[in-house]
Amino acid sequence: MSIKLSSGEEIPIEMHKTRMVQKIQLVPVEQRLKAIEEAGYNTFLLKTKDVFLDMLTDSGVNAMSDNQFAAMMRVDDAYAGSMTFYEFAKAVEDVLGYKHVMNVHQGRAAEHLLAKVYAKPGGVIPTNYHFTTTRAHIELQGMQVLEIYYDEALKTESSNPFKGCMDPQKLKNVIQKYGKDKIGFVRMEATTNLIGGQPFSMKNLKEIRQICTENGLLLVIDGSLISENAYLIMQREKGYENKTVAEIVKEMCSTADIYYMSGRKNTCVRGGCIATNNLKLFEQIQPWLPVYEGFFTYGGMSMREVGAMAVGMREMVDPELAGCSVEQIKYFVNKLSKAGIPVVTPPGGLACHLDAMKFLPHVPQPEYPAGALAAALFISSGIRSMERGTISVDRDPKTGKEIMADIELTRLALPRRVYSVSHIEYAIDRIKWLYAHRKLVKGLKFVSEPPVLRFFLGKLRALDNWGKDLTETFKKEMGQR
Ligand SMILES: Cc1ncc(COP(=O)(O)O)c(C=O)c1O
Repeated sequence: MSIKLSSGEEIPIEMHKTRMVQKIQLVPVEQRLKAIEEAGYNTFLLKTKDVFLDMLTDSGVNAMSDNQFAAMMRVDDAYAGSMTFYEFAKAVEDVLGYKHVMNVHQGRAAEHLLAKVYAKPGGVIPTNYHFTTTRAHIELQGMQVLEIYYDEALKTESSNPFKGCMDPQKLKNVIQKYGKDKIGFVRMEATTNLIGGQPFSMKNLKEIRQICTENGLLLVIDGSLISENAYLIMQREKGYENKTVAEIVKEMCSTADIYYMSGRKNTCVRGGCIATNNLKLFEQIQPWLPVYEGFFTYGGMSMREVGAMAVGMREMVDPELAGCSVEQIKYFVNKLSKAGIPVVTPPGGLACHLDAMKFLPHVPQPEYPAGALAAALFISSGIRSMERGTISVDRDPKTGKEIMADIELTRLALPRRVYSVSHIEYAIDRIKWLYAHRKLVKGLKFVSEPPVLRFFLGKLRALDNWGKDLTETFKKEMGQR
């Protein structure tokens, strides 16, 4: 939640206390330069010993609760029939309202199974916006992802509260153009990851549900970030201001034929699940579970994680957890925005996103401004962020041609219950310093490039060795740290 100080300023306030800590260190700027050079200017390839604030992602790195740790200690460890799985299934029914659920080892495993089972060769999957792993699995099944958002979605600076909505008219046009038989399913991603953690509204979700019903299409919700979407509906959508996050999550879930999630985010564990109320659909997917994931009472997860996920499932609708990163992001984004730094607005869930094309307008898109900005931010602060731009889009597999991302974002994720306001203040300060010295930052060029999901393992180099110039200037003005 947030609290108003006597000065009138609103700050995010942590509704938890820290009872276990991990030491982190801020290494000197020269060591940061060496580290990013060794990592091929790819923040994924950094080692955590060189990272001060790890804002790469919120995935699998949230602080678990005392009750989750306790649950891990008392799980029923069995290959088959574990009662811990049934505790998890009960939590899913209570919180999401689904009777049938299967665990998978993480979100992309769910995407793999859904893309496989509902593949329509040569077909399409309409979505409000793709996620990297979702797209990879859909394309590996010979289908195409169609993004049918409102034009506003790609405007990085906006006051539209629901930039994650799907455009219903465009969905109707897609159905008309491709025909129902070519549509595997319609996918709604709650709090769209790649366009700045922007939510969709309940009204929009229901309109999309209606179109799916009229056309006999399956509606799939990717609920990896559903808590934040629900929290933002509560704050922004008329008619929902007096509803609880729990009620909103359940209402969202009631619209979907199939729900899946990465548990690494909202439930703060390393796992995932697929859930539905439709037994026929469940039975289409379940036979593949032991082939790719594991027996149905563990689905590729350790029983300890299943136990913690049972607790995390109930905790994820607690507004203190659902809103903790949202409130920190709001504080982070508003302060940067006030300082004239180009940042995605309105603030959403997941992360604070810098608009790299506006931050580094002199770096052309084929030289990867968002990747360059992530590397430059690491050099000048020790903060690890993530490129969410053209590096995160693979080349066209047929022509080898580069596909430019719709927007170039450098994402500073806020894992839940991990960082404090002073950490955010430090980040704001170093981002401002970098903005004042942005001319020193130039582009990047690939030196090794994997054919799929290249952003994970690809290596690049800094054009004109700009990392060295940035390091020298930082040292002169700020010292080693
Ligand atoms: C919206 C969304 N869907 C799916 C995934 C994939 O989940 P995982 O990383 O657990 O495989 C992610 C991960 O960040 C995500 O944000």
